[in-house]
Amino acid sequence: MCGIVGYIGERDVTPVLVGGLKKLEYRGYDSAGVAILNDNNISVVKAKGRLASLEERLSSTKLNGHVGIGHTRWATHGEPNDINSHPHLSNNGNIAVVHNGIIENYMQLKEFLTGKGYEFVSETDTEVIAQLIEYNYKGDLLKAVMNTMNDVEGAYALGVVCSDYPDRFVAARKDSPLIVGLGKNENFIASDIPAILEYTRDIYILEDKEVVSVTANGVEIFNLLGEKIQRDVFHVDWDVSSAEKGGYEHFMMKEISEEPGAIKATLSPRIQNNQIILDKFNVADEFIKNCEKINIIACGTAYHAGVVGKYIIEKLARIPVEVDVASEFRYRDPIINNKQMTIAISQSGETLDTLMAMREAKKRGSRTIAIVNIVGSSIAREADDVLYTWAGPEIAVASTKAYNTQLAALYLFALNFARQRGELDEESYQDYITQLQKLPEQIEAVLSDREIVQKFAYNHFNANSVFFIGRSMDYALSMEGSLKLKEISYIHSEAYAGGELKHGTIALIEEGTLVICPLTQDHLLEKMISNIREIKARGAVILAITTKKNEEDVSKVADAVITIPDMDYIFAPIVAVTPMQLFAYYVSVMKGNDVDKPRNLAKSVTVE
Ligand code: AGP
Repeated sequence: MCGIVGYIGERDVTPVLVGGLKKLEYRGYDSAGVAILNDNNISVVKAKGRLASLEERLSSTKLNGHVGIGHTRWATHGEPNDINSHPHLSNNGNIAVVHNGIIENYMQLKEFLTGKGYEFVSETDTEVIAQLIEYNYKGDLLKAVMNTMNDVEGAYALGVVCSDYPDRFVAARKDSPLIVGLGKNENFIASDIPAILEYTRDIYILEDKEVVSVTANGVEIFNLLGEKIQRDVFHVDWDVSSAEKGGYEHFMMKEISEEPGAIKATLSPRIQNNQIILDKFNVADEFIKNCEKINIIACGTAYHAGVVGKYIIEKLARIPVEVDVASEFRYRDPIINNKQMTIAISQSGETLDTLMAMREAKKRGSRTIAIVNIVGSSIAREADDVLYTWAGPEIAVASTKAYNTQLAALYLFALNFARQRGELDEESYQDYITQLQKLPEQIEAVLSDREIVQKFAYNHFNANSVFFIGRSMDYALSMEGSLKLKEISYIHSEAYAGGELKHGTIALIEEGTLVICPLTQDHLLEKMISNIREIKARGAVILAITTKKNEEDVSKVADAVITIPDMDYIFAPIVAVTPMQLFAYYVSVMKGNDVDKPRNLAKSVTVE
């Protein structure tokens, strides 16, 4: 989704802004622009398309300056074109604004401002902010921004420059991430850390409804009452190289290859002397014992991890678990009380639907737990307890290692919860922990067989439609396999419960239809084999994913079989997802698609 970078200091501002925006390209965008402040003049250059188009335009414009803001836009209001791109200028040309998020009351504000004589050139909600700041400006930029924040409803991260202030810019946030990077005689703002990591590792994380005034030598944070806020400096300890490709052709392949290490990093610090110790998790024993229900809320891949989580938690801890797509949970008037826990799962920790759903659960009395990858993100900060997934930065839009680590965190949670509720005897608990620790090497084994997946992808990358079918946990896994494929290959795909296909969708199976079937649960093997026979009889081509010990039986019905090591079935999804991710990856490469930045998608979805 949209990206923001701002700079003030001694460097030439244009390369800093463009370089920073490049680091945010992975978030997804369809146009880009910069506003450079020089003396008391604002120059705006913007272009539809990739940053290369903006760079081309900048090379013929030759802008000088040491203060500026830049933006990559992912269109929400109005098509991607030069005019709708950010920054947006106010009518008198004295104020330029970049904005991430959505202003919900922009139509009313536009009407109000039009009545006051303001003219609008774009179709965006953001232009309203630029005009409103101009309207509210009575010689004090900070005050004008604060008043504007009081007027607008919705989500925003803002960067604002004003021609009356050649030595500063102002930024603000509500429900959309924004950080301030702290340098020596220079300072930055950005919507995500990689944009400024080349220059500094010391940052302030802005909170909701805070506004910040940034000069080359100082940063002041205020709340909307105009009171100064003290903020601790957050030191980023991951390396810039972990946000770079490191010899891989695509981030996605690099990130799939990092899965064993990411799982180890998520599990190891929490397993001490064969006991699970969860840091930052202070739920009283009494609460756990009396807990009546667990809710899981998340979106996309994180939601699919949540569906697997339901099976794991219900199986191990014998407590009812309800999983919701976060955007649905909020508006369905859920029945929540203070004897429930709500787990919000999110890689970015900034997905607006998940954040809002978590707030709703909290408001209704639930204790909230975040399973999140980004330290200090909104969901992590607002949850009562946090279980970080230590996957490292995930840059490819299609989530891979984050999913595996979300499952790793859910296993830890479920085993801990089950043990505390007295549902697991010591022997089984110990046995599960031992099996958990084997997961990284089991994924290594799957990765070393990647050529088998590649060959299969080569034979089928032209498929028109691909079905994924599975039962129980394999059904949950199928949902993720199918999402991954459609996201980056643009092939139509559906996931179905094995037993459900014959209730209608089997009508779509014809000669040559590709169906991918995970069969990782011994107790459901025969049933799934029967489902495969049903679709095979209609001409389907079957790729099965199963454990070594079942390879022979499954080979009798499948056209190709990929194996994973033998293991307790509850751990199979975290390993069996890897060949599905690889399949989607290879198909996308073979189709010549932009694997890391698929069309229409954004890495972090910070709008509803
Ligand atoms: C996954 O490949 C996606 N691109 C998407 O579904 C993602 O998982 C979803 O938007 C949730 O993001 P989050 O984990 O950052 O909350």
